[in-house]
Amino acid sequence: MRKIHSLIVLLLVFMVACTQGGRQKGNGDYTIRTEVPERPAGQQHVVGLTAPKIDTVRVGFIGLGMRGPGAVKRFTHIPGTKIVALCDLHADRVEKTQVILDNAGLPRAAEYSGSEEAWKELCDRDDIDLVYVVTDWKRHAAMMVYAMEQGKHVVCEVPAAMTLEEIWDIVNTAERTRKHAMMLENCVYDYFELTTLNMAQQGLFGEVLHAEGAYLHDLSEFWEYYEGDWRLQYNKKFRGDVYATHGMGPAAQALNIHRGDKMNTLVAMDTKPVNIPQYLIEKRGMDVDSAYMFANGQHTMTMIRTEKGKTIHIQHDVSSPRPYSRMYQLSGTKGFANKYPTSGYALQGEMLGEDVAPDLENLNAHNFVSDEVRSALMAKYKHRIHRELEEKAKEVGGHGGMDFIMDYRLIYCLQNGLPLDMDVYDLAEWCSLAELSRISIENNNASVEVPDFTRGHWNDVQGFKHAFVE
Ligand SMILES: NC(=O)c1ccc[n+]([C@@H]2O[C@H](COP(=O)([O-])OP(=O)(O)OC[C@H]3O[C@@H](n4cnc5c(N)ncnc54)[C@H](O)[C@@H]3O)[C@@H](O)[C@H]2O)c1
Repeated sequence: MRKIHSLIVLLLVFMVACTQGGRQKGNGDYTIRTEVPERPAGQQHVVGLTAPKIDTVRVGFIGLGMRGPGAVKRFTHIPGTKIVALCDLHADRVEKTQVILDNAGLPRAAEYSGSEEAWKELCDRDDIDLVYVVTDWKRHAAMMVYAMEQGKHVVCEVPAAMTLEEIWDIVNTAERTRKHAMMLENCVYDYFELTTLNMAQQGLFGEVLHAEGAYLHDLSEFWEYYEGDWRLQYNKKFRGDVYATHGMGPAAQALNIHRGDKMNTLVAMDTKPVNIPQYLIEKRGMDVDSAYMFANGQHTMTMIRTEKGKTIHIQHDVSSPRPYSRMYQLSGTKGFANKYPTSGYALQGEMLGEDVAPDLENLNAHNFVSDEVRSALMAKYKHRIHRELEEKAKEVGGHGGMDFIMDYRLIYCLQNGLPLDMDVYDLAEWCSLAELSRISIENNNASVEVPDFTRGHWNDVQGFKHAFVE
């Protein structure tokens, strides 16, 4: 009996020795690290960057395919802007977009088209403050860098960069030129997400420990409409989450990434691809071997751990027949929010005021709160941005209004010399998943370090916030 007792004591001592802060220690650090280029001498970080106020923001648009003209149309509804120039490879797309200006009673813009490089002439103009990029992913980074070098602020559709090299190029150029470089991540302005962010910031979920996001959208109806088949071809060549930013944006804001926390490591895993190779065989008559030379997994999952011990789970799937979803979930010590497939909140009763839920005793976090309580909560925690812009946004539209809110906020901040809602480090962090998840998958799902793109300034600001003129 005494022997068994001593054995148990020994085992316990061994277990305590193997743990640190309640965590078992591994045998070694197998994390893959990518190079973090040193910040060039004389260059400063751009956390909280502001630029001189611009009364009338003069804009040039590059890329007028499926998405671009909608952006031009939204700008016709934003006071204090001037649409100066339009550019696309195809002259007829520029002409079609000019009609949007005609219909809005605005003067026609200068036109650029007909060559891969015509966009540079648009960036070279001296009567533009902001270059707005809506082309395919291949040239996003080059266009952003060139625009900043010509003294322009620049914004770019998602994802703004596909590789770490491109990301560092954008970060370094933004720091050197002190120009705003923002990615147009619209999903952070959606109604549920922004309301939930407000709840999180006011402590309704306690400490938020885990966030989820995704892009789950069967694109089979769209593949044939992308210019030169760029999107399918990109997926054919690259493994990893190539479209992570819609999921990353709301999750990163809720977890205050580079505003008091930072992403440290990620691991990623994917399934084999099936539906797109099948699509290529059936719809494009491709032979089986070529069709299955397809890099991107059908379903890709990435898990990230932060410095402050939080986790983020991001997913990507653009070919499974399943309902559209960006997942969006926050899980905290006192409550839970979930958007897809069923939107709702689950909260410990004490977190709800009696104004919202008079019958507190019947509440617990085992179920979603009732529809009535959810509506009352969403009304109580409606974000200031939605209070001010909701009606106009619904009227103008663009993914139900979030696109308009994104553009409006961008212009509001530029006009008032405020920091933009999303900075170049958000761009870097959210886009970095494309290459970092690929590295993890191609190395047997290894742990990969997420670089600190702020190079030492992730803890300067505490808490994500939107800037307002007070
Ligand atoms: N945020 C969102 O909700 C959302 C939705 C759809 C698309 N997007 C993003 O918008 C971007 C564009 O997507 P899309 O669906 O409009 O693609 P698209 O293929 O329909 O349009 C791209 C356009 O860019 C033009 N273009 C390409 N190279 C050019 C160059 N060198 N100079 C000038 N023009 C050039 C093409 O001619 C084409 O008209 C992508 O980054 C995509 O991921 C975002």
